[in-house]
Amino acid sequence: MIQHSLYRSAVVLILMAISMINCTSSSTKQVTPTNVTAKSDWWKSAVVYQIYPRSFKDSDGDGIGDLKGIISKLDYLKSLGIDAIWLNPIYTSPNDDNGYDISDYRTIMKDFGTMEDFDLLLKGMHERGIKLIMDLVVNHSSDEHQWFKESRQSRDNPYRNYYHWWPAEKGTPPYRWSFFDVNSNAWKYDTLTNSYYLHYFSQKQPDLNWENPKVRNEVYDIMRFWLDKGIDGFRMDAFQFASKDTTWPVLPKDYQKDVIRYYGKGPHLHDYLQEMNKEVYSKYNVMSVAEGAGSSPADAMQFVDPDRKELNIAYHFESVDIGNHINDFGLVKYKQIFERYDSTFKDKGWLAIFLANHDQPRMVSKFGNDSAAYSALSSKMLSTFVLTMRGTPFYYNGDELGMTNIRFNSIEDYNDVDTRNKYTALQQSGGNLKAFIELKKQTSRDNGRTPFQWDNTTNAGFTIGKPWLKVNPNYTSVNVAMQEQDPNSCLNYFKKLIQLRKQTNIFTTGAWALVDKNNPDVFAYTRINGNERYLVMLNFTSKSTSINTGINLEKATLVLSNYPKTSTIGNLQPYEATILKY
Ligand code: GLC
Repeated sequence: MIQHSLYRSAVVLILMAISMINCTSSSTKQVTPTNVTAKSDWWKSAVVYQIYPRSFKDSDGDGIGDLKGIISKLDYLKSLGIDAIWLNPIYTSPNDDNGYDISDYRTIMKDFGTMEDFDLLLKGMHERGIKLIMDLVVNHSSDEHQWFKESRQSRDNPYRNYYHWWPAEKGTPPYRWSFFDVNSNAWKYDTLTNSYYLHYFSQKQPDLNWENPKVRNEVYDIMRFWLDKGIDGFRMDAFQFASKDTTWPVLPKDYQKDVIRYYGKGPHLHDYLQEMNKEVYSKYNVMSVAEGAGSSPADAMQFVDPDRKELNIAYHFESVDIGNHINDFGLVKYKQIFERYDSTFKDKGWLAIFLANHDQPRMVSKFGNDSAAYSALSSKMLSTFVLTMRGTPFYYNGDELGMTNIRFNSIEDYNDVDTRNKYTALQQSGGNLKAFIELKKQTSRDNGRTPFQWDNTTNAGFTIGKPWLKVNPNYTSVNVAMQEQDPNSCLNYFKKLIQLRKQTNIFTTGAWALVDKNNPDVFAYTRINGNERYLVMLNFTSKSTSINTGINLEKATLVLSNYPKTSTIGNLQPYEATILKY
């Protein structure tokens, strides 16, 4: 009660401050990044923007985004204020899994261009002060990679041990579940040598055998090839699965419900990472990010504890794998995840913060509200979250516009191997296909992969050809050209957030603590560095609500909000995001 009256007494003062500074006139200025940390820690203060190259910008009219397309948009990227770009795989690939099945690690996929285009892209980025992070996909290769073609040939081929094989005379291999296989079986029988090979993902993505030192050295050479070209780091795809227990124990029934525990903590995983660090990473000042990092904060710490000399940044999946929509799992549970991770990482180690990527639905459709009334507001609210948390923000292209799920009605519209294979499996088993399509409208990875929306010309200005995946029809109102002109747009709000993050170290390194933790509607937290104190309040609902901050806000000033007029202290409007300095 005492606290409550304090808010009330602060209301008048705060309202005065608020009326002077509103969202569109906030005091954020263009500034260069603050060097908050030692140069070798540059990745801690970086804002990483993820580009899905297939969907970003097509330069030659074949309907597929390409490197020249990205080059043509470098000034847009610079205007965002981001520090680094993570590019999904651009290497030669038959595209069973859109580039995550690599058949040549040292060449560029024809759809995307040439090595000359790549060199120009890297140069153009570096000239604009933007770093480049590449995807390193080495848990598996494509079955069309020369190594696998050799490996299949005979049991005594020199490349045989580059992959995991099980001779059929030993009987059926112990069952392993596959993420993408139609039959949910990770062992595929191959007649040529009467053996099975292992593929945790699709049949066209055979798992490399990391126990073989030759494989490890091949990978280190590939890494040096790109790092010597001047790239600034790698995002390590699915690497937690690289080490297998090759005694192939029989696993408990239904273990796939806890698959990370059985696949993600192989016996030599950290030996490999330490070796990789010694051989490669320690020789370059680059970013190394683990996709997936076990199933607990303690697991994640093992990847990035500086004393262990493995990787720089871990991104865990607990915050995205929790359910299909925020209303299903609830905000309190959601907040607890971040609290658990932050308390483990407060003194050492480093995490990524993200709400979306190319494997997820659109952030606004999952954590916000993509209805016409609330799409822009909730999108800005979620951007506020990603850009004010502790950790390195990984922000997915298109989210700065508030792009939403497309919600295809037919399986024919889908491209994603995961969605298509699961549909086929269900079809074969006589499952409920209608319910499946309904579910995929919310969850399919293709929701996040529709072409980037540049303007309101045909195909959103993405291509003059036929786009490889349909364009979201809302491009006529959600696009860069319109949002650049509108000072209140999601895009301009995103830019302000980035500038804010660069004006002060606080959002990078400041202590983080939840406020009003059991509030089911509001995600609020403080960021504190010495005398500098910020309060971030985010209403995750479409109703007006209240918050009990317990903080004396008498002298607080408004830093940024997604509303032109913020609420009285203690109250928040639907999807309101408000940052106060106090
Ligand atoms: C990672 C990628 C995903 C891909 C999978 C297999 O999870 O993000 O897109 O399908 O690995 O490489």
